[in-house]
Amino acid sequence: MRRVLTIVLAVAGGPALAQGPEDMPLQVIPRTAAETARIARVLAAPQDFSKAEMFEAKSGGAASVRVRPGADAFSQFSGNMAFDRQMNFNLGNALFTKAWVPSPASTLASDGLGPLFNARGCQDCHLKDGRGHVPGPQESAVSMFLRLSVPGGGNPAEIKDWLATQDEPTYGGQFQDFAATGIASEGRMVIDYTEVPVTLADGSVVSLRAPRYSVADLGYGPMASDVMLSPRIAPQMIGLGLLEAIPEADILAQVDEEDADGDGISGRASMVPAGADGAPMLGRFGFKGGKAAIRDQSAAAFQGDMGLSTALHTDPWGDCTAAQTACRAAISGQEPGVRDGLEVDHQSLDLVTFYARNLGVPERRGVDDPQILRGKQVFYDSGCTSCHTPKYVTDRLKDQPEQSFQLIWPYTDLLLHDMGPGLADNRPEGRATGSEWKTPPLWGIGLTAHVSGHTEFLHDGRARNLLEAVLWHGGEAQASRDAVVALPKDDRDAIIAFLESL
Ligand code: HEC
Ligand code: HEC
Repeated sequence: MRRVLTIVLAVAGGPALAQGPEDMPLQVIPRTAAETARIARVLAAPQDFSKAEMFEAKSGGAASVRVRPGADAFSQFSGNMAFDRQMNFNLGNALFTKAWVPSPASTLASDGLGPLFNARGCQDCHLKDGRGHVPGPQESAVSMFLRLSVPGGGNPAEIKDWLATQDEPTYGGQFQDFAATGIASEGRMVIDYTEVPVTLADGSVVSLRAPRYSVADLGYGPMASDVMLSPRIAPQMIGLGLLEAIPEADILAQVDEEDADGDGISGRASMVPAGADGAPMLGRFGFKGGKAAIRDQSAAAFQGDMGLSTALHTDPWGDCTAAQTACRAAISGQEPGVRDGLEVDHQSLDLVTFYARNLGVPERRGVDDPQILRGKQVFYDSGCTSCHTPKYVTDRLKDQPEQSFQLIWPYTDLLLHDMGPGLADNRPEGRATGSEWKTPPLWGIGLTAHVSGHTEFLHDGRARNLLEAVLWHGGEAQASRDAVVALPKDDRDAIIAFLESL
């Protein structure tokens, strides 16, 4: 821990980070008309599925990284990062991996954890910069947690359709299963699974596990009877800076709230208050698009997941409510004049944001393989691209050369879709209803087993492989899911091989 302190201080002499409050929204250089026309040609759907498209293997454009076979595949910096910025990435990495401790502690640079928390460090959940996993029967829920809310409450911003909810009055906005010594933990998340068989057209049977969530061993009495729970598993961390750099207009152009084109797929933008001034921005991060920017999401993680204050959430007690008096009164890691008077100083938030922006997306494998090309065609024919939009060109950015003007292949529209009752958490968040989820990017998904040692997918890890993930699709994606159920085995294998190659 001492070592972390010295390197963090050493950055004062390093290259300046082009971040800070002024990078919200990002500093965009407008496109010329000629560029816009050229980009439209590059983004057109392929006509010929017998060979790979130009640059298709480079999922993250020039920021892509060479695939490493082992567990470090998601832990490399953007492939186009200049040498003098790599030090900042390494400093951000040190903060992302470090384990914080409750106050008071002798390790002053790392104290302030909690009093309530879900994990001691970012990396405890975003394991190997990949996704988390469902806890085993005897395991506490480190890389997964429950969001909490109750209906009602005022509209926090001037945002159309904002669904009024507020935090659970005693337990707050998130259920923390750990607490500092002397403070009661909030309790434990319980998951019960029921197996549900699905028969495919060729007669083979796939079993889906349907989860039910509840809470036990409550440390602060009963929860409100109308509490709404939303399970969330930590998502993979690659390519986030590139998603942040997709032109907002290109995402909003895909919105079809009333399904005017009649394809059964609407697509709504999550709009959320962002940054220090709370102005509405497009929500691109979180499973319901609850955060507009990586900085916002990271500061919220420090606060909600770890109980650490930052410039964006200055209370040192994290998610403790006024009803949790001992928790509010506990010693914090905040001291005037130290670490900007916060538990996580401005520079540390900048460094973590820089790190989270720059985890490189691995290149595709086997883009020219005939089975994978066939699978790509089946993916298009099954309507998957109506939500999993294959490609974009990112904005030109003043201070972010790694993300600036790249042809990327994330396979997401970053919009909210009604995914049907099977996947619904029945808990609205912002503009997102209780059955809407944001389309997640699919890049890197084929490396999940290498990085994480498991293949659990969807917002709560209920799917145990890619086919199960697809079979859970309902609502607006019902026709796509039915198309996959109807596929002959060869084509089903091909679409899975395609997903594995991403
Ligand atoms: C207790 C587990 C946990 C910890 C600790 C944690 N995260 Fe997360 N992280 C999550 C979950 C769950 C989500 C999805 C949140 C949502 O849907 O609102 C997430 C989402 C994110 C995202 C958005 C990713 C995306 O694709 O939308 C970023 C960025 C992120 N976390 C950064 C961090 C940073 C930085 C830290 C440390 C300061 C951190 N996280 C600590 C669980 C965790
Ligand atoms: C109507 C929009 C829509 C369509 C069409 C659609 N998806 Fe999805 N997809 C989503 C959303 C939203 C999620 C996240 C759901 C969740 O986490 O509960 C998702 C999740 C996934 C996942 C899991 C991702 C992860 O990181 O866990 C895979 C794999 C996937 N989709 C593949 C497909 C395939 C293949 C098709 C075509 C057969 C398809 N999707 C069609 C919206 C869509």
